[in-house]
Order: sequence, then structure tokens, then C-alpha cells
Amino acid sequence: MPRKILVTSALPYANGSIHLGHLVEYIQTDIWVRFQKMRGNECHYVCADDTHGTPIMLRAEKEGVTPEQLIARVWQEHFDDFSAFHVNFDNYGSTNSAETKAFAQGIYRTLKAEHLIDVRSIEQYYDPVKNMFLPDRFIKGECPKCHAKDQYGDNCEVCGAAYAPTDLIEPFSAVSGAKPELRNSDHYFFKLSAESCQAFLRQWTRGGSLQAEAANKMQEWLGAEGENKLTDWDISRDAPYFGFEIPDAPGKYFYVWLDAPVGYMGSFKQLCDKQGLNFDEYWKQGSEAELYHFIGKDILYFHALFWPAMLQHAGFRTPTKLFAHGFLTVNGEKMSKSRGTFITARSYVDHIKNTEYLRYYYAAKLNGTMEDIDLNLEDFVAKVNSDLIGKYINIASRCAGFISKKFDSKLGDTDAAASAEFKAAFDSNEIARCYEERDYARALREIMRLADVANQYIAEKAPWTMAKQEGKEQELHQVCSTALTLFRDLSLYLKPVLPELAAQVESFLNIEPIAWSGAWQALPAGHTINTYQHLATRLDPKLIEAMVAANQESLKNMTESHSEQRHAEHQQNVIEPIAETINIDDFGKIDLRVARIVNAEHVVGADKLIQLTLDIGEEKTRNVFAGIKSAYDPEKLKGRMTVMVANLAPRKMKFGLSEGMVLAASGSEPGLYILSPDDGAQPGMRIK
Ligand code: 2FM
Ligand code: ZN
Repeated sequence: MPRKILVTSALPYANGSIHLGHLVEYIQTDIWVRFQKMRGNECHYVCADDTHGTPIMLRAEKEGVTPEQLIARVWQEHFDDFSAFHVNFDNYGSTNSAETKAFAQGIYRTLKAEHLIDVRSIEQYYDPVKNMFLPDRFIKGECPKCHAKDQYGDNCEVCGAAYAPTDLIEPFSAVSGAKPELRNSDHYFFKLSAESCQAFLRQWTRGGSLQAEAANKMQEWLGAEGENKLTDWDISRDAPYFGFEIPDAPGKYFYVWLDAPVGYMGSFKQLCDKQGLNFDEYWKQGSEAELYHFIGKDILYFHALFWPAMLQHAGFRTPTKLFAHGFLTVNGEKMSKSRGTFITARSYVDHIKNTEYLRYYYAAKLNGTMEDIDLNLEDFVAKVNSDLIGKYINIASRCAGFISKKFDSKLGDTDAAASAEFKAAFDSNEIARCYEERDYARALREIMRLADVANQYIAEKAPWTMAKQEGKEQELHQVCSTALTLFRDLSLYLKPVLPELAAQVESFLNIEPIAWSGAWQALPAGHTINTYQHLATRLDPKLIEAMVAANQESLKNMTESHSEQRHAEHQQNVIEPIAETINIDDFGKIDLRVARIVNAEHVVGADKLIQLTLDIGEEKTRNVFAGIKSAYDPEKLKGRMTVMVANLAPRKMKFGLSEGMVLAASGSEPGLYILSPDDGAQPGMRIK
């Protein structure tokens, strides 16, 4: 029985361009969907632009267009970018649709009938010139800690302090420059603190829908049984706001994050109407269809708490699984506009053109975990040229010509002994399992292993030598035909990753679209193929250099990054309150030192710890157990510089003595970030 599967990727905001960081998710999802379809499952992939909220409203105003005009233009840009990368949605909608509106309002009405909506007055900054309430990111002022000017209302970019907008000194509206006033307004809350929500979420987050790392984070957010840590969720915003009005609440709009995931339903409803699918079969409580959301780890909070709680209490099914992934780094660092590594989808297409190279590289790095992945630009070129061109394409380019020239483009018999050997060396079920589990890195390693075996066969037989020898025609014919069958099989396994190339191979080999079940059936003798034309060429590193330079040039004056835009929408009030004031002497008691991580290892039997060996310039290194296993691979820590508390009393732990502590940042969302000093800092330097 084919499985019924509905798959989504996170809805990108309609106020920014698609960049290579976004593409990690869409490419990952697209590969999975293509794989499911090739396996004969009924799989639907939907997405949409996330169009509501204050930033979009203000940007439209600035550009002198309506929000509707702005989101229509961005929709087309996003759609074109995704198409260029072969991300093949079955429907690409918009949250600003009649369908999404109907579902959002319907869900709200049910939650209200279930007594899960509360109205409370809250105090917030108001811009008296612009006549609007200001989200934290639109209030600026002097940092209350370091007194840097022109800092945002939620945290200081100079000293890193986090605070409430009301803590800012001399606050002003970033929209009009006016001095904001504190005003009261009624807000609507989804009562996440209700016993029924907490109990449901406690059970749901343990029910296998989350990766282990995410499930742990959820337990932290939920607290222990009976602890009731969840607070109600503010789902309303006051007019003016670009979004959907809340039923029976004039002037109140749904907060963008309420209708964003509902956009998954709205987009799917459009697909149902186009294709005659049954919406309820996929979404009603008790549905037997599978529902998967691919998301970045930074939006787990919304998808693992708010979203399932909303669905459950509004009579819908909950997701089968959330597939959260890590972030993209470029050359080992956060994407940066000044370094030119903040690369938009468009500039990649303009400079490099072949988007399957990136699909291949990402696939070679993705393993289904929440670990970050790195796009190392040098390695990218090397991998594309050595694997894709050197190992895979080469098989066809070395053998096809002989078939055309010497055998009238007709294939001959295949080498039975060699075929048996290949079959024995290779397990296609294993590849399928890797794809299913989103461990594409492993799938590609297996596939490349088969490519190695095929290349070895060709090298041993050396068809180019046979072609010059008399009486070797039959053998030459057999070797090249065998190699082309192998090439067809490799193309099959690579097809979810390289759909365009696979289509070119199908046309070159003159065969029907390759299906999973067709593997290992040799291409029949007498079959006519088409003349070989270059399927792909080597990637020229100069193209990469040009792309980076062009990005550096065009983006150098822009400061707003995607994560900042995203941040603007996360008004979750989840910043921890600032601790009690201390004086400089209190601070002076803490001896912070720059440390080099000389060694890092897993600790047998510990779920959370990594054992670090730290050099802080002393004769002997320090041993420290750090609770950072959820976020770091020990291998990647070796050699890094960080910061440690050097005068913390040593602590005896189950696994040994810990002689200090390394510093790491964490917030309410998953993710743990150890600190690094700037370049040049040496082990042992004091931090004051
Ligand atoms: O973080 C973001 O980019 C959001 N626009 C994602 C929304 S995902 C879903 F909830 F719609
Ligand atoms: Zn500051």
C-alpha cells in the first residue's frame, strides 16, 4: 500500500530574499519528497510565503506600495529562486489567502469555545506620531548597561546585554523617531498554561515525534510534572497591522506566528482543490496519513509547543514528526555580508548556474541531525569536481563515444560476471534506508562507493586500449554496455538529489524515467542510445571567487540579516530577566581566562558532558567537564579558543575532577553557544 504523506518546509518571510542558508532546508525536503515519490508513495509537498507582520507592513510603506503588492512581488522572486534550485512544490501558496484565513479563524473560534482564549490588558510602548504599538525591535535607545547609543529594544549589539524595552535610556521609535509612551491595550492569549495543554504537550513531546535533542529541550521548557512552566501565548497585535483580523475583536489582528503554520493547511487546501484530494484525510484528528514538517532548529518552539497544542484543541491531527536541522555556516563562520558569504540564491544562479552542484554538496553533508552544516567553498569545488564529475559523469563520458562510433549507437550484451560482482558489492535497500532517515551523506557515500567499483572496472578493462586492438570489438562492446547500465543505476540512486541531470541521462540513454524497481536490470542488447553530449562540466573556482566578490560589493551597505528579520517577529518575551546588580569588586572576583581547547572527548555514560582539556598558559592543562554535548561535536572543538572561569572551586564529579567552567550562551530556544575571543587573544589572557 503506498503511504499517504504530506510534507512541508518552513514558510519563508516575504520581506527578504532566499539565500543559501534557506536552501539547506528546501533542498533537504525536496530530496526527501522526490525519494518518496520515486518509491511509489503518495507524497505531497506544500509551502507558502509567510506574509504578515509589522516589518512587511512598514517595508511596503517605505517602498510606497501596498503590502499586497510587496508580497506579490516577493512571492514571484521566491518561487523563481526555488524553481531554479529544482525545489518542486506541489503547491506554493501565501499565508495571505482565503484558505489560510478561514482555517486561522476557525481554529481560533474552536479554541475560544474550549475556553482556551483569555483577554488581558498589557502595557507596551506606543508611537504617538505613527499611532501604533511598537514591537521591541522597533524601539531604540541607549543601552542601560554599557550606554552605547542607538541600540534595539531587546538587546545591545555592543555589550550583548538583554533587557526589556522599558529599560532603554531615552527610548525613541525607530519608525518615526518620536519618544514612545507606555500605553495599555487588550491582548488575546492562547492559554498554553491550561492543564489540558501542558498535559497534552508533555505526552506529545515524549511520543516520538521529535529528534532526541529536541525532545530534551522540550522537557526543559515544559518543566517537571506539575511544574506548569508554560506561560500563555500572546496571539494578538493591535491595528495597524498587516494580517487577519480576529473574529469579533475589531482592531485586533492575529500575530503573524499564529497564522504562519496554519499556512501549511491553507496551501494544502489549494492543492486539494486543484487535484481533487481529500483535505480531511490528511488533517482531521485520527488521520492515517503522515505529516512531516522540515524546520530550522530555531523555530522548534513554535512547531513543537504552540502548533501541536493548537491543532489538538481545535480537532485536527498533530504532526507525525518534526525534522529539525541546523544552520549553515560558510567557510566555518556565520554567513557574513562583509565577507561576501551571505550568498543569495539569485547570485548563485547568476554566477554558477548549475544549482545541482549545491544540491549535491548539501546532500553530502546532511545526516538528519540538528548539527550545523558548513559550506566550505574550496571543498565545494573539490567535491563537485572529484565526485560528481570525476567519478560519476566520467563513466558515461569515457564509454558512450565507443557505442556511438563503433556500434551504431546500439548496446551489446552485458558482462554477467562483472554485474554479479557489482550486485554483491552493493545494497540498494541500504540506500533507500539512508534516504528515508534523511542521512543523505551516508547514501551518497554508498553511491560513490559503487561509482568507485565501476571506475575500477573500466580502468582494468581499458576500453580505450581495446578500441585500438584488433579482434577486441565484442569485448569493447560488452565493457561499454555494462558500464552504461551501471551509469543508469547510479543515476537512479542520485535522482532525488540530481533530478535535472537524471532527466538528461534518461534522454541520453533513451529510456523511460528510471524507477527504483528497475535497478539491476541490464539495459537490453540492441537498445539504441542517443549521442553523448556533455552532461556536466567541472566547476571553475573562479566562478566562486566572482560570486563572493559580487556579494561583498552589493551587500556591503546592508546590515539587516535574515536572522535579524526573523528575530523581529519573535516577540516571545522569553529573554531571561537581568540578575541583581553587582559592583565592580563583585565582578573582579571572577577570574575569566582565554583558553585553548587542546582536546575534547565524549564521556562514556554521560548524556550531556564533553570532557575538555584546556590550556590557559599554566604549566599543566585543566580538565573541565562541560555540559555542551547537545550542541557540539568534540572533534570540531579541538584547537578552538574559548573563555573559562579559572578560579571556580574544583568540583568532584562522577567522571572525575572538573577544574573550572567554560562559558556558553543559551536562550529559550534550543541551541548552546560557547564563547570565542577575537583573533589574536592568547591562552591565559585575563578577561576584564
Ligand atoms: O522563521 C521564519 O522564517 C518563519 N517565516 C517560518 C514560519 S514556518 C511556519 F510556521 F509557517
Ligand atoms: Zn550595551
